[in-house]
Amino acid sequence: MDERNKIEKVRQLGLALGTDKLELAQNTELSADTPSGPLADQFATHLIWTGKDPMLPERTYLAHLFGAKVTFQITDLTYRIDTNTLQKMAAKTLSAGEVGYCKIALREPVGLATDSSNEKAVTFAILDPRNDCVVGAGIIDFVLRRSLNVGWHRMIVDKAARTAVNQQKPCVLWFTGLSAAGKSTIADHLEQKLHAAGNRTYLLDGDNVRHGLSKDLGFTDHDRVENIRRVAEVAKLMVDAGLIVITAFISPFKAERQMARELLSEGEFIEIFVNTPLDVCEARDPKGLYSKARTGELKNFTGIDSAYEAPTNADIVLNSKDNDPATLSEQIMEYLQAGHYV
Ligand code: ADX
Repeated sequence: MDERNKIEKVRQLGLALGTDKLELAQNTELSADTPSGPLADQFATHLIWTGKDPMLPERTYLAHLFGAKVTFQITDLTYRIDTNTLQKMAAKTLSAGEVGYCKIALREPVGLATDSSNEKAVTFAILDPRNDCVVGAGIIDFVLRRSLNVGWHRMIVDKAARTAVNQQKPCVLWFTGLSAAGKSTIADHLEQKLHAAGNRTYLLDGDNVRHGLSKDLGFTDHDRVENIRRVAEVAKLMVDAGLIVITAFISPFKAERQMARELLSEGEFIEIFVNTPLDVCEARDPKGLYSKARTGELKNFTGIDSAYEAPTNADIVLNSKDNDPATLSEQIMEYLQAGHYV
């Protein structure tokens, strides 16, 4: 199948699927063959985006593939394609109606002997994990070989062994809230208490991580998604190391906080909402960033011209307007003691 045929095929598929909720049984438009071939988790695909929110590389979506739902991320939007001229253009995102050529990584591997020269190319729908509504459709071009050559090496010293030595239940205390809400200050207090009690901790802080691991990232939606993905992966490794991990990032989007939760096991992810209203944060303005954002000197500032999606069922909610950091860190210590984390 040449590129024009693939584009036409994904466009037709996108039209046929619509943008409503897709039920698992309703897969007439999609490849229903049983998976076959070697297990792989990374593919190159042509896809059309149909969702009203733009597609964001590194955000977690669901693929309706072979009649099952598989979590995946678009790891690379290689180019967008002008569907009339077939011209390839650099792009950071796809909006509704746009077609692109991408690399995707599934969370769980599937058996797939695909080669798009075959007319029966494998197709899939892309669903928004929040509501199962269709936000795009894709056609798989080929399996990325790198995914076939990397396995998982199980080590003898594992999380359980490290946990036993550390005498604590490892977890991630995931702070979220506006800039100047008090996340770093409360996190710092909390880490001091845990450390004084002999616990093994590590604090990953937004400003600090942006000096190293995430120094190539800015504050577009796309960059924030990638920032949080990296932090969530690092936090997961640190939990595997048996640590109590504290993260202090705005982490403005529900989707990425949910992704972080799903990377960890039950009870390992504790979401802490530092619920400080915008007017209080703005009055504090310790770095003068709110005033710069108000004058337009600073763009994409959270709460001003970039969204903050407050948690609706955080594990712990902190009221930093009326309480000092010592009281709030004590509230978290009580939660950890009650749950036998420490
Ligand atoms: S996140 O959105 O990707 O989670 P993160 O917590 O790493 O953000 O970084 C936020 C810090 O960067 C803020 O405390 C603030 O000091 C600084 N900052 C600079 N520009 C912005 C911006 N446009 N929006 C929010 N914070 C910003």
